[in-house]
Amino acid sequence: MAFSTNFKVLGTMTTTLLLLTAVKASIAIPSTGTTSLREEAHKKNITIGSGAINPTYLEDPVFAAVLAEQFNSLHPENEMKWSFINPSPGHYNWDPIDRLVDFANEHDMLVKGHGLISSCCNPDFVVNITNPEALRAAMTTHFEAIMHRYEGRIDRWDVVTEALKTMGGGLNANDFSRQLGSGYINEAFRIARAASPRAKLYINENQVEVLPGKRQELQDLVSGLVADGVPIDGVALQMHITEVAPVPGVITDMVRFYKALGLQVEIAEMDVHTLNKTLETQIYGAVIKEALEAGITDISFWGFTDKHAYTWVPGAKPLMFDENYKPKGAFYATHSALEDFVDEC
Ligand code: XIL
Repeated sequence: MAFSTNFKVLGTMTTTLLLLTAVKASIAIPSTGTTSLREEAHKKNITIGSGAINPTYLEDPVFAAVLAEQFNSLHPENEMKWSFINPSPGHYNWDPIDRLVDFANEHDMLVKGHGLISSCCNPDFVVNITNPEALRAAMTTHFEAIMHRYEGRIDRWDVVTEALKTMGGGLNANDFSRQLGSGYINEAFRIARAASPRAKLYINENQVEVLPGKRQELQDLVSGLVADGVPIDGVALQMHITEVAPVPGVITDMVRFYKALGLQVEIAEMDVHTLNKTLETQIYGAVIKEALEAGITDISFWGFTDKHAYTWVPGAKPLMFDENYKPKGAFYATHSALEDFVDEC
């Protein structure tokens, strides 16, 4: 009896496996004709990721297949920003991030946290706090809830995103600086470190690769944090590039500067916004090559398919795969940079 029941279970499992294999085989993924980015990255101990992963995109089997095939890390788009994940006191939308974390686990990928303090998206209950102590308490509750839930499954976090004004010229005024002054950055890192002692903690910033004044401001800000003993592990360069490539050497200089402070630099959200496809390909290749040679070991893009691109340049298609998941020049330039890279350390 027991034997026949087990036999039935085995039979059902075999059928399920056969069905899964059939479904997989029926997904038409355009071939790149190469190894995957993740295979090349793995050979050199590089983390190669895609951010801007809205968990609903995973319902598209081709999206899910290309993501898992090409990348060994992922992070969310907006789903971890405060108003998305915690719209009212005590209420957390865990499902979207759980979905990402489960997917990553199934496909042996890392997950990065993005949006603990972001430049947008704070719920009314946070915006309406008028007392610094209450805001500190809200930050602590929020960080602990999220970081504890994903302890051991999310290995690194953007703790503060876009602290500086977009074009430089001082700190962004936000819901946190209004109550806590510029010290909110310091406090956010301390709260994050207490909540997750082993995770890597990053400050995430845009445009510093193209704006020398802003680059200096970030260096001053981060040097100050380090001098104050703030628990920060690194700087996440967004690297959203519009038309103009960073001047050669700038990424290398930044890595050198932060390394001297004991910090890592990562590329966190790269994409290239231009209508010129040749330029797009060149920029992808040049940035990834320089980043790898400078010692950057963690590179993520802000998505990978133009089907789900976030762009401010009308008509631009900023990512490595087109809307139908066909690899573009940008993919091959990135792949070659990874393949050609020789780690001399
Ligand atoms: C963007 C999202 O992609 C958009 O959907 C949203 O409307 C605005 O925010 N830098 C960041 C990301 O750190 O969180 C931003 O994401 C893009 C710029």
